[in-house]
Amino acid sequence: MVGTAHQNAGVEGVEGGVGLTALLVAAARAIETHRRDSLARDVYAEHFVLAAPASAGWPVRMQQVPDGDADPLWGRFARYFGLRTRVLDDFLLRSVHAGARQVVLLGAGLDARAFRLDWPAGCVVFEIDREGVLAFKHKVLDGLSATPKAARVPIPIDLRADWVQALTDAGFDPAAPSVWLAEGLLFYLPNAAETYLIDMVDQLSTGGSALAFEVKLEKDLLEYRDSPIYTSTKNRIGIDLLTLFDGEPRPDSAGDLAGKGWSTSVHTPFDFTRRHGRGPLPEQNDALAGNRWVFANKPRP
Ligand SMILES: C[S@@+](CC[C@H](N)C(=O)[O-])C[C@H]1O[C@@H](n2cnc3c(N)ncnc32)[C@H](O)[C@@H]1O
Repeated sequence: MVGTAHQNAGVEGVEGGVGLTALLVAAARAIETHRRDSLARDVYAEHFVLAAPASAGWPVRMQQVPDGDADPLWGRFARYFGLRTRVLDDFLLRSVHAGARQVVLLGAGLDARAFRLDWPAGCVVFEIDREGVLAFKHKVLDGLSATPKAARVPIPIDLRADWVQALTDAGFDPAAPSVWLAEGLLFYLPNAAETYLIDMVDQLSTGGSALAFEVKLEKDLLEYRDSPIYTSTKNRIGIDLLTLFDGEPRPDSAGDLAGKGWSTSVHTPFDFTRRHGRGPLPEQNDALAGNRWVFANKPRP
């Protein structure tokens, strides 16, 4: 095992602990899907939300949110996830069109990209998350008779355990280019598990591979504890993000990859809001202020 057990070890499925955050993102994607100006479409998202007792009463479209965009949770925060989904959809599709055929979703949660994106022939999507989260996902998708648009290989394992062996046993080929995604994941992992993950992605990636991940830069996570995003998420749906985030100082994963020869670029979400003409913009006391989206490419030899 890498790192120590902490809060997110407690609940295995989507009903609590860090697994519940997968439902939060699914609800946001459901709302985004039904917006007139939607940035991303995920027709599976609302089915996950409605199937879980913990989230069955949450909104799945904007008409169910009386304050609309002014609502810090189902307006601004949900739009953040909608924008993130779109940006990372684009990243993955760009990477496979550039030649990668292996896609690894780390902390995949209820990500339905294997089912909803148009993958080129020969793509394999590996989805790593804990067993209880993937079991819930499969129950819902099976009920919908959903068919993936690429070969899909779920890998039920904790990312603090030996996931590399599980991934290679499942058919991942380190000699072929790959594209990796850690969306909404790293800040839940102990420092050592993040360092290990980045090292392993480097070791398992041949030239032409790519990785995108999200980090939070703030030195003190509690700096924005009174922000509308954190307080509404805690008080209205019972997700206390600040207790789920790992409290250790974070490694400099973008810097580490650059030191290993990857080319990296680091963006604020607001960069993409401006590019797409919609999405969250900075505000006072902003829980999103330290969020960065990192894109890394390993050069071909
Ligand atoms: C906020 S959700 C994001 C899910 C998905 N990437 C998305 O953006 O929709 C965080 C996910 O990370 C997973 N996760 C957190 N810690 C993990 C661990 N130690 N091992 C495996 N998965 C983990 C959770 O189960 C959850 O599905």
